Formats: sequence, C-alpha cells, structure tokens
Amino acid sequence: MNKDSANMLDHFLSHLESVFSISLRDAQEIIRNFHQEMRYGLAGGKSSLKMIPSFVGRPKGAEKGKFLALDLGGTNIRVLAVELDGNGNAALAAVSKFAIPQDVMSGTDGKLFDFIADCIKLFFKENNIGTQQAYDLAFTFSFPVEQSSIASGKLIGWTKGFTAGGVEGEDVVALLSEALRRKGTGFIHVAALANDTVGTLVAKSYADPSCDMGVILGTGTNACYPEKIAHILKCPGLGASGEMIVNMEWGGFSQLKTNIYDHLLDRASLNPGKQLFEKMVSGMYLGEISRLVIVEMMERGLLFRGTSLSAFSKGYALTTEHLSMTAQGTDFFAAFGLRDVTTADRQTIQEICRIVSTRSAKLAGAAIAAVVAWMDEKIESDHTIAIDGSLFEKYPGFQGYMKDILNDLFGARSARIKLELAKDGSGIGAAIIGAVAAFARDGGGG
Ligand code: BGC
Repeated sequence: MNKDSANMLDHFLSHLESVFSISLRDAQEIIRNFHQEMRYGLAGGKSSLKMIPSFVGRPKGAEKGKFLALDLGGTNIRVLAVELDGNGNAALAAVSKFAIPQDVMSGTDGKLFDFIADCIKLFFKENNIGTQQAYDLAFTFSFPVEQSSIASGKLIGWTKGFTAGGVEGEDVVALLSEALRRKGTGFIHVAALANDTVGTLVAKSYADPSCDMGVILGTGTNACYPEKIAHILKCPGLGASGEMIVNMEWGGFSQLKTNIYDHLLDRASLNPGKQLFEKMVSGMYLGEISRLVIVEMMERGLLFRGTSLSAFSKGYALTTEHLSMTAQGTDFFAAFGLRDVTTADRQTIQEICRIVSTRSAKLAGAAIAAVVAWMDEKIESDHTIAIDGSLFEKYPGFQGYMKDILNDLFGARSARIKLELAKDGSGIGAAIIGAVAAFARDGGGG
C-alpha cells in the first residue's frame, strides 16, 4: 500500500471510530433520556419505551409443580418440561428444540401457531410423555406484547425479522389455544404468557433475591425490572402497593446519536423507524452494520482492492458470528470467496468489528446503568443483572466493554452491579410464572 492510500485508510478508520464512539458524556445523556422515556412510558405518555406491566412480581422461591414451557423468540422453538421443588430449585425434565422454517416466520397464511402446536405434539412423542392428563403451559413469547393479564396479550408488532401474517394486533394466547385445540391437544391449558426478559429475571431471582433486572443480548435486545406498582401510573387498577415486573421493550429506545450506517440499515429493514436501539446493539444487526461499512470502504478503494463487491452485496450476508470469529483471531474470508487477504485488510476488518461491537456493548452497559440508577440512584445496594443471549455469552470482549462503561459511570460503586449469565432462563422462568398463575387460579390455596 502506498503512503497516500495508507493515510486515507487511517483517516477513514479514525472517522469511523468517532461516528461509532460512546463517550462518558454520551452515556450520561443516554441515562437522562432513558429516565425521561421511562417516566413517560409508565405514565402512558408518548415514549419510545413501552414499559409494559407483566402482571407478575418476583417469585418467592416456594413455587412448586410440574409445568410445560414453550419458548418462541428467535429462529427456534423450544418446548420444555420443568419441575419446581418449592425450595428455589428448578429442574429440566425434558427439552425439544425445533427450527422455524423461513416460510413459517414470514408466511401470510396464519400457519405459525399450527406449526407451534405440531412442535408441542412432537415434544410429547419424542419424550414419551403421556397425553391422558391435563397440563399447564407457560408461553414465553419474545416480542412486544401489550399484556392485559398474566395469560393474555396482543402482539404490538413483530421484530427480529418475523413478519408472519394474522398475528399483529391479536391475542397470542388465544391464537395458541385455538391451534392446540385444532391439533387435538386441547388438554394443554395456556396458563401464563411472559416476555423472555421477564422469564430470565424470574428464573434467576427464584434462587437469588438480589437479582433485580433481566436482560437479553442476543438476536434481539430488551430488559425488565421490578417497578413499584404505585409508579405504573398508566394502570391505576393494579393496586397501590407492591411491585410488578415491567417489560421495558428497550429495543425501541430512540433518543440516540445515530450515524449514516444506522440510517441505511434502518431504511432497508423490515421495520423502518422502529427498534432503533435494537438495531445498534443486537446480534441480528451487528454483522449488517459492518457489511455496510465494508461496502463503503470497498467502493472507496480502501479494502479488498481488485476484488468484486458482489460477495458483500447481499443484505445480512455478514453475521455477528462472522464478527465473533474475527474477534477470536480467525476469519470469515473463505466463506466470502476471498483468498490471499493482505495483512492490512485483515487488520482493517478487525478494526471494523471492534468498533461496531464496542459501541453495542457500551450502549448495552449504559442502558443497564440507566435502569439500575432508576431503581437505586446512588447505587447503594447490590444488583444482580440476569443476562441471556449469545452476544453477552459468546462475543469476545463484550462483557469487558459493558463493565468499562459501568465503571466510568459509577467508579468503585459499579462493583455492586454484577452482570451474570442466566442461560436459557426464560423457559424456566415462564414455568415459575405458570406456577404463580395456576396457584392463583386454583384459589391460592392449592
Ligand atoms: C423483542 C423483545 C424481546 C427481545 C429479546 C425484541 O426484538 O421486542 O420483546 O424481549 O427482542 O428477545
């Protein structure tokens, strides 16, 4: 590379670093904006945070029984049988996982719930579970749902690439119950509906009472926390005392400093103008943001010179897994037909991945900081944050950047905030919620 090209490359990379940077001041502004949007959302005003009451509080650890759980939120459906012993322990008695075909995710024929009911039937078969008795099922549905009770709620709008017809605006519990009846599995009763963040928080706090936040950092992103019922002004009928977990739907947060790549991604997305925070943070989009940067750099002759753009021209061709490989020191070049990649290009790709993923981790860290500071302004207590999702679990360095921003914001007090992996908690959490719902239904006395 000659000197001029090297200068242009340096110049471009420092420009990139600055348009993706999250400074301490940016993080403080995010916290202020989060608090404002949380306040408006809880009061029922216009807000990019939906702040949805979940109709459950944190569990007591004494919930008991055997429940089925259905987890729908990404490219797979999981069906689980969970046993709760009443002493804070939950055991998985059986699990089956099914991939959701693309035509079911985006079909217009209303077949999604029939497909789900078929998966549940297969689960019974695969695990040799008898069908002579009635079962309570808890449904983890990881999309924005306006809940009206512990076991009902309407889908506000699809996210994460789902577009299946006939579901938006409908009660997803009613859709599931009807499909179960149609498929001859009416002996299954849908007892509870929960967002995955709520399931994650409930599962972790079943055994750990200091857990007061559930976060997902995976294909999509979102968080929930227990709010004083008296603060949920938009729902005066909930009562005057106690707490209820609120699903924030923080993927929709929109008071953000966006750049040209965020705009390009949003405009070409299936849900333009929506889920802006999710599009800057979650696993579904980090590869795509990086691809947009790569395409621009190739067009400017700053990357992979002499190579055709075509390998990178398809939307979403680059995934977060590819980025993760780069961060681990391997590469994705062969998958894109690239051979003999120069050292300079290799380093440039590493830089792009680092810049894009660091912003995501810092934004996630700042958002967690906002919620913790909302609950405990001076960070005087311990807070365990239950986090699930592949970005948090697997992306090299991600957790470190989240901790850095918490440390920048709160100094030594940030040690009171523990970020803990809560793997696959959402299904178990839903079962616990199912136990709460069944207990209330059966008269609260057993
Ligand atoms: C959905 C949330 C969900 C999150 C994580 C988002 O796209 O809107 O309801 O909790 O993904 O799965």
